[in-house]
Amino acid sequence: MKPLKIAGVGYSVPKTVITNDDLKKLYETSDEWIYTRTGIKERRVVSGDETAIDLGLDAAKKALDKSGLKPEDIDCIIGAASAPPQLYPTLACTLQDKLGVPNCVPAFDLTAACTGLIYALQVARGFIGCGLYKTILIVAADNNSKITDWSDRGTSILFGDGAGAMVVTEAEDGIDDILSLNMSANGTIGQLIQTNFPSQCCPLVEQASEVGTGKIIMNGKDVYKFAVSTVPPYVVDCIAQSGMTSDEIDYLIPHQANQRIIEAIQKRLNYSDDKVISNIKYYGNTSAASIPIALVEGVEQGKIKLGSTAILCGFGAGMTWGAAVVRLRKGIC
Ligand code: UT7
Repeated sequence: MKPLKIAGVGYSVPKTVITNDDLKKLYETSDEWIYTRTGIKERRVVSGDETAIDLGLDAAKKALDKSGLKPEDIDCIIGAASAPPQLYPTLACTLQDKLGVPNCVPAFDLTAACTGLIYALQVARGFIGCGLYKTILIVAADNNSKITDWSDRGTSILFGDGAGAMVVTEAEDGIDDILSLNMSANGTIGQLIQTNFPSQCCPLVEQASEVGTGKIIMNGKDVYKFAVSTVPPYVVDCIAQSGMTSDEIDYLIPHQANQRIIEAIQKRLNYSDDKVISNIKYYGNTSAASIPIALVEGVEQGKIKLGSTAILCGFGAGMTWGAAVVRLRKGIC
């Protein structure tokens, strides 16, 4: 396998902030209830004509800028979105156009919900590893707020909008930035988080008994149990495969779904707080974008020093989950 270099990372979030107290205008809840159960104080949402595509474009430009590469250098674009503003043209095709990436370059979305970044990284690793493409742009962008049921206080407290992008390329120096990477899925428990399109059969035939709402429906308690039982041992296995020990890895940058889930992984790794990157308090769950947002913001705030290593992990609808031990080179964000 040819080695992969993480060359640039960027993120973008909308300006509009919705606090826990703001949500009291929608239903009976409290900042205390939400914060103690989730660690979330506020989240960002798109408004007006703004969509995840605007956020994805901004994140992609920042990642490209940091990588020192140009749109013409991109060989392939992978969009990782669970709640894109449109099914097609895909996020990846739309960004190809807006970024000015040459129009013969392949562009497609993959759907692995909140694990999308890890899945996209594995696909990119395969493409680069076998020499099919040299430089790949990954963009994770979601406007969850547009598919949230804002009357459901069990789910709408959790999600926020945001985008993260990563430029990955063949490592000319031979140093692979992916030390280990695993991705998994279990469709038998897929009903734990669902978003079903509103749809109807041909008007000339019998109609389906159920019509989708287009909104997120989630069994929060069981998702929580799934996450705390599945992700911590999975992360431990991924670290073992990297040939490193957990002590040798500098940071844990987990998907930001619930502070208590982050703490369960932290406890399993026996990490001190300074090794664990959490910004869920300010953004909620931004799906596949949450890892790159946490990474870049962690660097901006001085919590992460580059020239280091990190364990990334994600989980979400499908159910899907994944983890990767990566090198974070200087200058990537
Ligand atoms: O990427 C994956 C994304 N998903 C997740 O990570 C979800 C993981 N799950 C969770 O984070 C938690 O399950 C939640 C935070 C979503 C919910 O916490 P919970 O402790 O599982 O609460 P619950 O849904 O069992 O509800 C407990 C009670 C209920 O009242 P009753 O029936 O006991 O009287 C709810 O009606 O809390 C009530 N409740 C609320 N009360 C105030 C539910 N939501 C709220 C709310 N404010 N926002």
